[in-house]
Amino acid sequence: MRRKIRNITQKDIDTILTIKGWIKSIRSSKKFSFIAINDGSCFNSLQIIVDSNIDNYENIISQLSTGASISATGKIVKSPGKEQSFEMQATEIKIIGECDPETYPLQKKRHSFEFLRTIAHLRPRTNTIGAVARVRNALSFATHKFFQENGFLYVNTPIITAADCEGAGEMFKVTTLDQNNLPKNDKNQVDYTKDFFGRPSYLTVSGQLEGETYACALSDIYTFGPTFRAENSNTSRHLAEFWMIEPEMAFADLNKNMECAEKYIQYCLEYVLEKCPQDMEFFNKFISKGIIEKLKNVINNPFEKLEYTKAIEILKNSKKKFEFPIEWGKDLQSEHERYLAEEYFKKPVIVYNYPAEIKSFYMRTNDDGKTVAAMDVLVEGVGEIIGGSQREERLEILEKKTDKIGLNKKDYWWYLELRKYGSVPHSGFGLGFERLVQFVTGMENVRDVIPFPRYPGHCEF
Ligand code: 4AD
Ligand code: MG
Repeated sequence: MRRKIRNITQKDIDTILTIKGWIKSIRSSKKFSFIAINDGSCFNSLQIIVDSNIDNYENIISQLSTGASISATGKIVKSPGKEQSFEMQATEIKIIGECDPETYPLQKKRHSFEFLRTIAHLRPRTNTIGAVARVRNALSFATHKFFQENGFLYVNTPIITAADCEGAGEMFKVTTLDQNNLPKNDKNQVDYTKDFFGRPSYLTVSGQLEGETYACALSDIYTFGPTFRAENSNTSRHLAEFWMIEPEMAFADLNKNMECAEKYIQYCLEYVLEKCPQDMEFFNKFISKGIIEKLKNVINNPFEKLEYTKAIEILKNSKKKFEFPIEWGKDLQSEHERYLAEEYFKKPVIVYNYPAEIKSFYMRTNDDGKTVAAMDVLVEGVGEIIGGSQREERLEILEKKTDKIGLNKKDYWWYLELRKYGSVPHSGFGLGFERLVQFVTGMENVRDVIPFPRYPGHCEF
């Protein structure tokens, strides 16, 4: 039976095991060969020593090269080397899939992340992308664990929707109409009554509005699903397809929301440090020096909380030359967010009570009439990782706001009705999952923390 490398321990010394995986590197001589095998179950490879006295040595060795898949059977022994505590003395090597060394693009040298994106089908075999995949997996499990342990119900909200939650018009249209022969109405506009759903429909930008309906029946819920935004931004933190976690809590105000966001992030970091020590050591050493210490600080210190108005004061008083000048009423740009988290407070910052004008229609209006109960969590290296708010639960005020921005009330009738039948104060937020993976690993580009990134002009694989 095959044993995964992750599960080999000191206790296996002197026993005979079979492992299967891909060759990371191989050094051969007439007398023996050293092969490093990785099966992705953990960061470390297992070193295999093949003695020339095994059957068919020359022939086998001639077919082995980096990238080939093999099965190896042999005794686990204590390793004299410093790098690993044990290794395998192989008695049998079987070649499962050869790998042409002339054309295999992953040679032992370092490749740039830009290049690796062009071979996204092979890049999970590299140290970095493999480690990212394991950390991403752990973060996703930690997410479910955190919410489940705290009594939240996992809800699946629709991927195809007619509602533009963020009202930013950044939605991908979903249609089955023949693009070369579009049906037209008498105003010469496309006639969507002839389309699949009988109305214009889109890929969701957020499951929040639907999530709210479940929170207003089941109390605490969360979603964790793919989200789509057709924003034409080519930055290191934007994707056209990303994953979002959206908790929503009934009978909860903005403070409770902020508290939940802080606890959730801290829980995730703790979980990864505990479950992925080898991967995190790698990021600490080669990708972002000191990241482990940074994460520990985030776990052990409360987040800074300050009102938007105060944040603007700090930014204006800083001697920094920002590309986008800042003043009250303007939205924070990435450079401002990062200044606050990285330079000024040197820890995660929650900015709250933003001007109503720059935030979404569903956020609760504060008593001052000018600001809304919104909050963003800003972290080092990434900027905004979470956006959330207390929701407007008062029908009249919500209707005024939808009118003001020209939302068609008919399209949102169900959302408005929630405010008519047993309305309650409720709050929630959305965390961009890729930004969390970026934050934890210290990876610079969001395109390298999702297996197959989608961004303008890129839909390969
Ligand atoms: O701030 P956003 O737009 O908030 C919402 O969508 C709310 N409906 C969430 C809620 O209250 N339930 O997005 C939430 C988070 C951002 O803070 C960011 O981390 C991430 O989603 N995000 C993106 N991540 C990658 N690529 C993009 N294009 C992103 N846009 C937002
Ligand atoms: Mg936001």
